[in-house]
Amino acid sequence: MARVERFELVSLTWGDEERQAAIRVLDSGNYTMGKNVREFEECFARHLGMKYAVMSNSGSSANLIAVASLFYKKENPLKRGDEVLVPCISWATTFHPLHQYGLKLKFVDIDLHTLNYDVKELKKAVTNNTKMIVAVSILGNPCQFDEITKLCSENNIILFEDNCESMGAKFNGRYTGTFGLVNTFSTFFSHHISTIEGGLVLTDDREIYNLLKSLRNHGWTRDQDKDSPIFEKRDDDFFEAYRFILPGYNLRPTEIQGAIGNVQLNKLEEFIGVRRKNAEHFVNLFKDDERFITQKEVGESSWFAFTMIINPELNINRKKVLQKLRDANIEHRIITGGNILRHDVIKYYDYVATKSVNADIAHYNGFFVGNHPYDIRDKIDYLHETLKVI
Ligand SMILES: Cc1ncc(COP(=O)(O)O)c(C=O)c1O
Repeated sequence: MARVERFELVSLTWGDEERQAAIRVLDSGNYTMGKNVREFEECFARHLGMKYAVMSNSGSSANLIAVASLFYKKENPLKRGDEVLVPCISWATTFHPLHQYGLKLKFVDIDLHTLNYDVKELKKAVTNNTKMIVAVSILGNPCQFDEITKLCSENNIILFEDNCESMGAKFNGRYTGTFGLVNTFSTFFSHHISTIEGGLVLTDDREIYNLLKSLRNHGWTRDQDKDSPIFEKRDDDFFEAYRFILPGYNLRPTEIQGAIGNVQLNKLEEFIGVRRKNAEHFVNLFKDDERFITQKEVGESSWFAFTMIINPELNINRKKVLQKLRDANIEHRIITGGNILRHDVIKYYDYVATKSVNADIAHYNGFFVGNHPYDIRDKIDYLHETLKVI
């Protein structure tokens, strides 16, 4: 076996092209959101087969403006107190904007194998009060979108996809992050493509697109479509120059992020191909290992990382396993932040939780190790060797 010193969680995915793109922006003198961001948005939307993309300074900001936009759309807007179904396991900023906008969160347990919604539990959780479902494809693995879209259309429920962990994944041949009315992505450093920090919202709805652009940008009217459906232009240019129509934010990305995003997007499919090859190796090594539950792929995962849950039916000491990983320099983390119900922040939320048995098992018995857009089969062998005796 080749000698491995370290199995890291995150690695740089840039080549000289990204550096050159950043330098071109620095030389241009135009740094704040402009043509590079616009070009990235257009290319990103085209690549995923949707009409509109709005870039923001992070995936968390993408979630924030996506939630906000649903409060300001004309027909059937969300209102404070509306019930939203969310999975127990996701990143904290999937939930925070929902709470901040006064929504009532109803937590649904996950499936221990896919780590996404337990669809049976999701169906049970729907009531006449359910206004929205937030679907999160965990660590590259698509949700069961056939069932979820059916549930939403039959019950007139809005589908919000937080796809921040699963860029490039596909369900029934269609990209995740294209099933929702709004769909969010992250281009943070450790994600499938990196613009240092960054995020995007995708939508096919022109009203929402214009709301997102205003909400990202002080809530003003600059950079609205010419015939934007969300306001009517008046003929006094003095007042039109600074005209505020929504309680928005400044969540704009920079031109450097846009320019780097354009270069990275061209590499996305190649990156995912390599991630999938690494995954094949991981799955082959661990699939029959009854000590661990590894993530069961649904559709085509973009394999953000490799999850391992210590089988709760066996008497294995989790602390000892994690110490082994530490001693071997194998970086690892709790799965996507774990069960949010077990975090202190939950005391601020207005929420309902029925059961979270599987989310607790993933929280207390699970961890993930990194995947990368280059060949890491030697590192996966090293992980396998390290965990041979635990
Ligand atoms: C599911 C999910 N949503 C939102 C985010 C937030 O993205 P960002 O770190 O770009 O703010 C993350 C971050 O990893 C995430 O995993």
